[in-house]
Amino acid sequence: MINFAIVGMGHIANKHMEAIEKTEGANLLAVCDTNPDRLEMVPSNVKKYTDLGIMLQENPEIQAVSICVPSGLHAKLTKIVAEHKRHIIVEKPMSLKLEDAEDMIKYANENGVKLAVVHPNRFRPAIREMRAKMDEGAFGTLSHANATVRWNRNQAYYDQAEWRGTKEFDGGVLMNQAIHDLDLMLWLMGPVVFVQAMAATRLRKIETEDVAAAVVQFENGALGVIEAATTVYPKNLEESLAIFGETGSAKISGRTANFVETWDFEGVSEEDAEQVKQAIKADPFGKPGHQWIIEDMVEAIKEDREPVVTGADGLAPVKLILAILESAETGKKVILN
Ligand SMILES: NC(=O)c1ccc[n+]([C@@H]2O[C@H](COP(=O)([O-])OP(=O)(O)OC[C@H]3O[C@@H](n4cnc5c(N)ncnc54)[C@H](O)[C@@H]3O)[C@@H](O)[C@H]2O)c1
Repeated sequence: MINFAIVGMGHIANKHMEAIEKTEGANLLAVCDTNPDRLEMVPSNVKKYTDLGIMLQENPEIQAVSICVPSGLHAKLTKIVAEHKRHIIVEKPMSLKLEDAEDMIKYANENGVKLAVVHPNRFRPAIREMRAKMDEGAFGTLSHANATVRWNRNQAYYDQAEWRGTKEFDGGVLMNQAIHDLDLMLWLMGPVVFVQAMAATRLRKIETEDVAAAVVQFENGALGVIEAATTVYPKNLEESLAIFGETGSAKISGRTANFVETWDFEGVSEEDAEQVKQAIKADPFGKPGHQWIIEDMVEAIKEDREPVVTGADGLAPVKLILAILESAETGKKVILN
C-alpha cells in the first residue's frame, strides 16, 4: 500500500481524494491546509494538519504528496516535499515561472524522488485515439493544428479567492485554463520554435489576460493557431483541438474537448470513422484523469520508473505560455530554444 497525503484542500483536492480512494494500492493518510476550515470535510480516519513540514515530519509513512495549492506556491511546496524525500504529484500549471519549473525538476532529482505533473486531459478517450493516430503516422506530413478554449469564468469566479487572476499566484486564461490544451498540442505535435501573439484583459477585473490569440510554428514545420478566452457569454461554449495533415484531419470538440467531431483518414472508411465517433460518444469521459495520475504514481513507485507525465512535460507548456505572453507584451516574434 502506498500512503498519500494532499496539501491544499480546496476544489481540486476533491479529485485527488476520490482518485486515491478508487486506486487499488493507494491510501490517503493525511491532509494539510493552512485554513483549518478546509479540513472539516475530510473523513475522520485521515490525519489533519495546518503545516506541511510538520505533517511530513510526524508521518514518515507518507510516500507521495499531491500538491493542490495556488499555482504560484507549487515550487515552494515542491521543495519542502522533495527535501523530506517524498514523491510529488503537482497540479497544473507546474509553476508560473520557468526558473521555478527548472528548480522543481532539480529538487526532485537531487533528492531522488519522482515528480509527476497533473495534465489529466491526456487520458481522455478521444485524445488517446488522436495520439494513437499520430503515433501511426496517419496524418502524413502535418499542415497545422488548432487549439480553442471559448469558456466563461465570470467575475464571481475570480472573486472567490484572492489568488485568482493574479500574476503571482494564478496567471490568466493561458496558465489556468488553456494550459491543458497547450499541453495536448505539444504532446501531439512536438516542440514549438516560434510564437507571435496578442493578449488582453477585456472583461474581467483581473491582473492577467482573459483573452489571448497566438500563432506558432512547430519544429516539424507545421503551424498552430491558439485562441483562449474566459470571457465568452454566457457560459462555456467550446474547447477543441484539431490537427490537419496530408492524409488526415481530426477534430475533438464539445464544451470540453471530449467528443470526436471530425475523423477523416486515408484508408479509413466512413463506417469505421463513424464507429470511432460512436464509441467515444458512448464513454466520452472514461476513467477520471486524476485517477490515471494516482494509479501511475503507485506503479511508478513500485516499479521504480518515471511517471508518465514528467516534470519536463509540465515545464513545456509553461515555457510556451511565457513565450506567448512575452510576444503579446513586446509585439515581437519570440523564438523558443
Ligand atoms: N487539473 C485540473 O484540472 C485543475 C482544476 C482546477 C484547479 N487546478 C489547480 O489546482 C490548484 C489549486 O486550485 P483550486 O481551485 O483547488 O484552489 P482553491 O483556492 O480551491 O484551493 C487551494 C487551497 O490551498 C490552500 N493553501 C494555500 N496555501 C497553502 C499552504 N502554504 N499550505 C497548505 N495549504 C495552502 C488554501 O487554503 C486552499 O484551501 C491550482 O494550481 C489550480 O491551477 C487544476
